[in-house]
Amino acid sequence: MKKHSIAIFTALAVAAISGQAQAKNDAPEWVSKAVFYQIYPSSFKDSNGDGVGDIQGVIDKLDYIKSIGVNTLWFNPMFSSEFKDGGYDITDFYSIDKRFGTNADFKRLVEEAHKRGLRVCLDLVAGHTSDQNAWFLASKKGPDQRYSDYYIWPDRIPDDVKGKEKDQISGVIGEDSFVKTDSGRSPFYIKNYYDSQPALNYGYANPNPQHAWEQPIDAPGPMAVRREIENIIAFWMDKGADGFRVDMASSVVKNDPGKLASIKVWQDISSWYKAKYPEGVLISEWSNPKESSAAGFNIDFMMHTGKYNFSSLFFNKVGGEFEPQVSYFAKQGKGQIKEWYDLYTEQYNATKGKSYISLPTGNHDIQRLNAGDRNTLDQLKVTMTFFLTMPGTPFIYYGDEIGMKFQTGLWNKEGSQGRATKNRAGSRTPMQWDDSKNAGFSTADYWNLYLPVDKDVNRPTVAKEDKDPASLLNYTRQLLTLRKDSPALSADGDWKLVSDVNQPYPMVYLRSSGDDRYLVVLNPSEQPRDVSVAALKVKTAKLMAGDNTQGSYKPGDQNDAIHAGAISAQVYKLD
Ligand code: GLC
Repeated sequence: MKKHSIAIFTALAVAAISGQAQAKNDAPEWVSKAVFYQIYPSSFKDSNGDGVGDIQGVIDKLDYIKSIGVNTLWFNPMFSSEFKDGGYDITDFYSIDKRFGTNADFKRLVEEAHKRGLRVCLDLVAGHTSDQNAWFLASKKGPDQRYSDYYIWPDRIPDDVKGKEKDQISGVIGEDSFVKTDSGRSPFYIKNYYDSQPALNYGYANPNPQHAWEQPIDAPGPMAVRREIENIIAFWMDKGADGFRVDMASSVVKNDPGKLASIKVWQDISSWYKAKYPEGVLISEWSNPKESSAAGFNIDFMMHTGKYNFSSLFFNKVGGEFEPQVSYFAKQGKGQIKEWYDLYTEQYNATKGKSYISLPTGNHDIQRLNAGDRNTLDQLKVTMTFFLTMPGTPFIYYGDEIGMKFQTGLWNKEGSQGRATKNRAGSRTPMQWDDSKNAGFSTADYWNLYLPVDKDVNRPTVAKEDKDPASLLNYTRQLLTLRKDSPALSADGDWKLVSDVNQPYPMVYLRSSGDDRYLVVLNPSEQPRDVSVAALKVKTAKLMAGDNTQGSYKPGDQNDAIHAGAISAQVYKLD
């Protein structure tokens, strides 16, 4: 790339990240009201008895999904795959994998979902393919093929990389990014995740002239890759999809620690997308909303990995596991919120009015909330209250609405032994529908199931919880109804912590939009807690959701006194 064009895109990207760009949320209107439901398709519902979930299974359950109060689906990859990384190793981006059905089934799914007012988003694995993808097989053959420059082919491991590991935060590649190959073309290719996932070539932020394989981001190969990605997007949008969650979105350009070049690539793709599909949404797995917002994404996650994570609320470390002594949402009450609060408020203030932050209830890479001794209905209701009363966009991971349990001791299923969370299989077990065989997931024999169903006789199921007014499922429905009807609790409503960040139990925050005000009190600890907050000038505080026996709210002239019972949550409407 020429020097002056680098300077221009750098200036644009820096201005965008530092907030000098337009402070306007340009997401389509529907996105401000979106509540997502994430489906891991192999585990949701098997309609043909082969032990693996499929599209018809999802269609059969759309009425249930709608009944939760969500309005948008996001599917983990359903494209043709070798399944060495749960479908994130795609062999053909233009076809639905036969285990799930056909492209025609996908169109039917979209039609049936749209009939019910549900939107459908797919997973765009933009950064890499399977090593069995036809593009890679062709690229391997040599430098003069149609797909030659779709991948990166170093002729050696440079000295300055030797002995270094890929930096998980900045994405700067290390020796472990070089995969040895006997392709004949070159001794190495660059991978993105597993060895079987060669990175697509979007170029390098600052190509080293001594490294012939490092191309600028606007070289013909990287530009062809971008066009291919736009083709893939158009192909599925034209079949009725409503948008994409982009996998490892920040990883596209190599050796781009400040992410300015990756932002530039996505600015180009997202501008094209917004012009062509103004009703489409773009969600990133970037975990840095400031950056992803500048790149043109409408929603980004703060979850288990990256610098901006929510790990201290739920886990022992970034990408870790539930640990009662340090997780805030643990009944022992030993956690803190400061670490998360600082990360969150930095991002919240920087992206407000521009894009949405999502704090997902879980996903296919994270340990489920129901883990260890965080396993009672009350505990799960407190966490659900948090997720569904925060600003931004809620994402409910399938099964979290009934409190499905994280399963321990599972084997490595299709690459589930991840790099950060080792036992991803534990969060990918079959959805529990009812008390019939395999909890209603499949008629297959136990050993043919994608993963085993929770064996606990008291396992939660949709059928049981649907009938029980006090269930987590019905609580989730109640919270979503409240959220839908309240500007304050919506994605755009203001958020302010009113309790002391250094006295974390209970956590009390105010949501507001004009005169509409809600106060949320969360006490995950098994000790009842009292707190006093600066008077919010309240005439009446009406409990709208949560525990109605243990909590109280007493407005005062100077201070308001709040009492939160052990392991309880309260959502008050303030007038
Ligand atoms: C993302 C996905 C994860 C996958 C990885 C590589 O982090 O969420 O499941 O293994 O990317 O594609």
